[in-house]
Amino acid sequence: MNIRSFLADRIRNAMSDVGIPNDYSPALAISKKAGFGDYQANGAMSAAKAMKTNPRELAQSIVNSLDLAGVAEKVEIAGPGFINIHLSESWLAQQLAHSAERDHEDDHSQIVVIDYSSPNLAKEMHVGHLRSTIIGDAIARVLAFRGDKVIRQNHVGDWGTQFGMLIAELEDQLGEGEQAALALKDLEGFYQQAKAHFDEDPNFADRARDYVVKLQSGDTKVLNLWAQFKDVSLNHSEDIYRKLNVTLNADAVRGESFYNDDLAPTVAELKKKGLAVEDAGAQVVFLQELADKNGNPSPVIVQKKDGGFLYASTDLAALRFRTGTLNADRVLYFIDARQSLHMQQVFTVARKAGFVDEWVSLEHHPFGTMMGADGKPFKTRSGGTVKLADLLDEAIERAAKVVRDKNPDLDEGEARGVARKVGIGAVKYADLSKTRTNDYIFNWEAMLAFEGNTGPYMQYAYTRIFSVFRKANIDMQSFTAELDLREPQEKALALKALQFDEALEQVGNEAMPHILCTYLYDLASLFMTFYEACPILKSDVAPDTRNSRLQLSKAVAETLKKGLELLGIETMERM
Ligand code: ARG
Repeated sequence: MNIRSFLADRIRNAMSDVGIPNDYSPALAISKKAGFGDYQANGAMSAAKAMKTNPRELAQSIVNSLDLAGVAEKVEIAGPGFINIHLSESWLAQQLAHSAERDHEDDHSQIVVIDYSSPNLAKEMHVGHLRSTIIGDAIARVLAFRGDKVIRQNHVGDWGTQFGMLIAELEDQLGEGEQAALALKDLEGFYQQAKAHFDEDPNFADRARDYVVKLQSGDTKVLNLWAQFKDVSLNHSEDIYRKLNVTLNADAVRGESFYNDDLAPTVAELKKKGLAVEDAGAQVVFLQELADKNGNPSPVIVQKKDGGFLYASTDLAALRFRTGTLNADRVLYFIDARQSLHMQQVFTVARKAGFVDEWVSLEHHPFGTMMGADGKPFKTRSGGTVKLADLLDEAIERAAKVVRDKNPDLDEGEARGVARKVGIGAVKYADLSKTRTNDYIFNWEAMLAFEGNTGPYMQYAYTRIFSVFRKANIDMQSFTAELDLREPQEKALALKALQFDEALEQVGNEAMPHILCTYLYDLASLFMTFYEACPILKSDVAPDTRNSRLQLSKAVAETLKKGLELLGIETMERM
């Protein structure tokens, strides 16, 4: 139930009843201050201004024809014409009772293509890929839950000149009887070796260059070596995805090489439309739209002098595929802010060339950099790039310590499972809870704390509710009871739980996972307030009250679990 859109519809009806044109919005929002109702509509003011009438009187006539019988217990006008809506407790209770039967099918049903993770296969995944992977995955889950058809695209870098050198190295090592998987066990080390051979051995370098040409012309032997390399490297990534609890699998992989056959036609199309012109032998699109401050147009090279294609050419071909074949209504890119100009160029060229219908939404959702405690981009002690696999292992190890301190009674096996969920959850939550576009400082202590807006706190809040049921010897899943919201803390908690769908709506539209984290944190905090004010299992609590409070707790637990699941974070019954 999306309360906000439900109320907004009713107000819109009332507004049109009193003759306000449809393009005036009810401007409905959650009330910020206690005493001003649960929702506040500010639309009467701007409508009155345009219609040159008194805003309070207009607000009054809207309220007179507003039908909220059974929904609101009070609707009042405040200040210059605010409409404050106080929802009825029994209506909230009813909504919450039905919220388990949420149906989301088809309410949005857009086709949304999401480009995320997209590492380069020449090297092992490092922390630079973490943010794209987990933010993109959270948004993919939220949109799918909302009812959109989500198509995940892992635009892996599986093509380019560095593969000549990697293939030559692989050939040498296989020649010595090594298996591909073994030779490439340490992908990072393998890359270094290949690079050293390339730099030091001119014969090797010649062969590597020859293999680039052979790769491009489809030489079977070279293609076969390339495919082996790609397979092993993808397996590395898939290990990480599994460890991270990320929903990317082999089906989502559509690497740069997939577009090879469409690169020449794409450039030909740009030439035909007069967009790409020859400049010093290369094919370039000059964009006046993105001109610098001196008025020089922004150049986008789509084909090099030697005929080779570039990152931008591939992205243009990919966009043609995403709109033309996948039929996307929305295409989202989760890529580092440093690639903003590149994305703008690609979008602008694609629009001008007519590769994308005007109603299709192209969205680059950039993110800031993950920083170390020193305020510089996150590195190893010796200044190297941090492998994602190592970082995740460390998270689990650190979480194991925290979990052991907190609950020494957990048996070995369970503790290990909990440590994995807490460690991975902490890393993900720390990232997802920050405003996406900002840089943020990676800090083990802060992310593993049990207080504050952290992963462990959220998981702990869930186990708290679970333990209430355990103490009462009641199976939460099958429990149901009548809800009766009497105390203000009960009403506030129920309302918050019902605002889940509104939060998701905003998360999906803006591709901002921190909005969901903030929502869940507020929900957990309101639960703690309720729990202190409203005893549940004490012997002097009447059975109906007890059951109603259990029912409310259950709704909160389910919302927390679902919300965390949409962030890709697992919950457990105790920790
Ligand atoms: N492989 C690129 C990198 O690691 C990211 C690709 C992002 N997606 C895209 N369609 N350009 O920087």
